Order: sequence, then C-alpha cells, then structure tokens
Amino acid sequence: MRRISSRLLQNNERDLSPYEKTEDSRKFFLIEPSLLRSGKSIVQGALNGDFVFSLLTVHVPLDLNSNVLDFGCGDGRVAGAFARRNFSGRYYAFDINRKRIDALQRLFKDDDRYSFTYMDVFHSYYNKEGSVKPEEYRLPYDNGQMDLVFLNSIFSHMKLEIIEHYLQEIIRCLSPKGKVWMTCYAIDERGARKRETWNYLFNTPYEKGFTNNIDDPERLVGYETDMIEAVVGKTGLRIDKYIPGYWKAERKSLDQHEQDLFVLSKE
Ligand SMILES: C[S@@+](CC[C@H](N)C(=O)[O-])C[C@H]1O[C@@H](n2cnc3c(N)ncnc32)[C@H](O)[C@@H]1O
Repeated sequence: MRRISSRLLQNNERDLSPYEKTEDSRKFFLIEPSLLRSGKSIVQGALNGDFVFSLLTVHVPLDLNSNVLDFGCGDGRVAGAFARRNFSGRYYAFDINRKRIDALQRLFKDDDRYSFTYMDVFHSYYNKEGSVKPEEYRLPYDNGQMDLVFLNSIFSHMKLEIIEHYLQEIIRCLSPKGKVWMTCYAIDERGARKRETWNYLFNTPYEKGFTNNIDDPERLVGYETDMIEAVVGKTGLRIDKYIPGYWKAERKSLDQHEQDLFVLSKE
C-alpha cells in the first residue's frame, strides 16, 4: 500500500512538461504553451481542434486522402486533430504568425504530408510588422490544387475587401468539386440579448461592418449576413450551407459552431 501511494505521489509530482517526448508528439500536439492561443491549455486546444475536425466531417464529405488547406492555422490545433486521425492526404497550412509556423515546422518535420508556411502579410492585430498587403497577396498554391479549404475564425478578423480578395484566391486554388468551409460573424436581428451577455456586441461601425473594439477593430469584425452573401456571390462561389452560430442563437444541435458557419462550392 505504501509503495503504491508513493508511486502515485511520484506520478503526481512528475513534471508533465509539454516538451516531454511522447511516442508521436505531432499527434498529441505538444507545441510550446506560450504559442497556444491565449488562455487555452494544450488539452483545451486539442479538444477544440477535434471539434473543428468533427464539424468538417459533418459539413463536407471530408476525404482523409485529399488535399486540404488550413487557411490561418494558428497554433495548429486542427492539424493535430488530423494527425490523430492518421490523415493520409496532403495538409497545407499557413499563417502570418512566424513563431507558431516555426514551431509547427519543427513538430511536423519528419512528415512530408504536412507543410506549414509563414506568410509575411500585414494584419493590424496579428502581424503589425507584416510587409505585404493582404489584398495583394497571392496564395502560393497551384490552380485547382485543393479539395477543401477551411478557415476557422479568420474572416472574423478582416475587412470585407480582403475577404473578397481571399475568396478569389481560394477559388483559384480549389479543385472543380472542392469545398470551402468557413466561419465568421454574420450579423442579423437575432439574439441581440445574447450578444450583449457574451460581450460580442458589434456596436461600433467599422469599414463596411461592425466591431466591438474600435481601438483594435480587427480583433473582432462582423458583417451583416446579406453583405457576406453578396461578397460570396460576387466571387462566383455558391453557398451550400449556412448554419447560424451559437454566439447569437440558442445552441440547438452539435453541428453548430460558436461563429456562423458557411460551406461554399464552385457553381
Ligand atoms: C482566431 S485565430 C484562428 C486560428 C486557427 N484557425 C484556429 O482555429 O485555431 C486567427 C488567425 O488568423 C491568422 N491570420 C490573420 N490574418 C491572416 C492572413 N491574412 N493570412 C493568414 N492568416 C491570417 C492569425 O495569425 C491567427 O492565427
């Protein structure tokens, strides 16, 4: 008995450092904690990646052997979820945060199915030092290369003309039957009370939309739903699905994201 409890004690006292080697650190997503999205633990991050993965499988016919683009991959939480499912296709990911991309390149260095690219693009909140204007940026992928492009919480941080430019670029890189899965804040008359409770109140006009923080507007931007639909329509993409997020409506089903979710395809 004494021996068991002292062993337990030793285990409890063990330093569960995220740098500790596991059998496969990519799968268990051991990025440095300082590079995780703010306020998240490794486990929360991984569960969040799993959640996005499961929404992808529910909303698009996700083929584990296809070409996938993770647009704005952040700390790589979704890449970790793909690795845990033994994804056998090609996973392309990029972001404008150099430290995170460097860390992900190190983590995935022995697996050439995954590629992580740093892009030196300006963003008023995420990359103030970036030298290229986002509206002039050409994605470094071939025409028709991607079967799925997903953007988890990316267009919730951008001006509308930049969104339009990126959608054009995405179309260029999308295969004929390819899908785009994206989340953003699509503002309509629903859930005003809930928005206040959640501190998501988009009460300040910013560019063609609204922000809740005029000092740092691109931390959170929302657009009226018909504006988003108009921009998507202008690029020639079709909206296959629109699932209101639980930021503004009661959560009624497990396939809802916190933000509003769109699945798009080529006409
Ligand atoms: C809220 S985080 C979401 C990160 C990731 N998609 C996730 O789900 O964890 C927004 C991300 O968008 C990235 N970002 C902002 N502008 C970008 C751009 N023009 N190109 C690529 N990534 C961008 C930021 O660096 C940040 O990692």
